[in-house]
Amino acid sequence: PETITVSELANRMAARGGDVVKALFRMGVMATLTQSIDADTAQLVVEEFGHRVKRVADSDVEIGLEGETDEDGELMPRPPVVTVMGHVDHGKTSLLDALRRTDVAAREAGGITQHIGAYQVQMKNGERITFLDTPGHEAFTAMRARGAGVTDMVVLVVAADDGVMPQTVEAIHHAKAAGVPLIVAINKIDKDGVNPDRVRNELLQHEIVVEELGGDTQEIQVSATKGIGLDKLAEAISLQAEVLELRANPDRMGEGTVIESKLDRGRGPVATVLVQRGTLRTGDNVVAGAEWGRVRALVNDKGQQVKEAGPSVPVEVLGLSGVPSAGEPLVVVEDESRAREISEFRQRKVREKAAAALTAGRGSLTDMLA
Ligand code: GTP
Ligand code: MG
Repeated sequence: PETITVSELANRMAARGGDVVKALFRMGVMATLTQSIDADTAQLVVEEFGHRVKRVADSDVEIGLEGETDEDGELMPRPPVVTVMGHVDHGKTSLLDALRRTDVAAREAGGITQHIGAYQVQMKNGERITFLDTPGHEAFTAMRARGAGVTDMVVLVVAADDGVMPQTVEAIHHAKAAGVPLIVAINKIDKDGVNPDRVRNELLQHEIVVEELGGDTQEIQVSATKGIGLDKLAEAISLQAEVLELRANPDRMGEGTVIESKLDRGRGPVATVLVQRGTLRTGDNVVAGAEWGRVRALVNDKGQQVKEAGPSVPVEVLGLSGVPSAGEPLVVVEDESRAREISEFRQRKVREKAAAALTAGRGSLTDMLA
């Protein structure tokens, strides 16, 4: 019988692998991204994704946020998006710095990551990898969840001298919930007396079984500060990416997700967007959450202005009407009036929601006083 792997099916629908895994799970089918499902099951999943389009709010239907399929021939290989997660101070930013050969941690206040950074790194073999940095401090759960939500895989950084800690466990849960594979990077192996076996056994207690213990999770020993194991880590990522067969159609209107956003004094609202499908260009009319605008400029991770950004590329978007929330989708629409219309629709919904919450709050207050 005809079969298709879950990741291939996701690619054909231009859906996220994790969403397809979740849809299958709801249908009672346990399958990982690399497993194959039969054509009947695949059909059900496709219908489920199609059905979701109809349920999306009126104004969102036509812009085809989900369910609109790309032809097989239109799909081109795209770089993997890798989110680096782990407990506070385990060396996530240092590891990224080592990979980028730059030094962001030194420039950060106190060396603690306060936001998600997004970078694209070109490896020795010419392949590109998009990295998202996340903070390890326990207060930033939402940022870690968002990071896991837009990524193809997670690199879990565990400091060999500290072992598995609360946010290590939290990161494992995020990766599992998002249905994305995980690569373990045991960091700080340059330190005296560290024992990777301890980390392996601690991970085992959270059902992460590394290859060294006969499992299927890749494990790489690294030192971010001494530059040990970086090539091996890049190789492990490439290998995992190959399995996932990551593809996207660059020849359509751009779509992506807001990774972080801020109001910049000189530049106005700035949203860092990870492009996921299509190509985003300067001059495009976009909607980002409840905000809209015409893209005035795109700035890449090196601070350079670029004319366009394709799948898996992170860029800063300038020209929005306001600051969209992190995690909101950004989509290109055909013209300005459409952008305004969708934005107004969404702002109305936001107001209605706030009003409803307020009413509910009053109700309970009245009850309390009665
Ligand atoms: P948060 O973003 O706050 O969660 O921390 P982080 O995981 O990004 O850690 P960061 O890269 O800021 O590193 C924390 C500390 O560990 C710094 O003092 C680094 O110099 C040190 N460090 C990172 N990697 C290594 C390593 O491989 N070996 C040693 N000896 N120290 C390291
Ligand atoms: Mg950091």
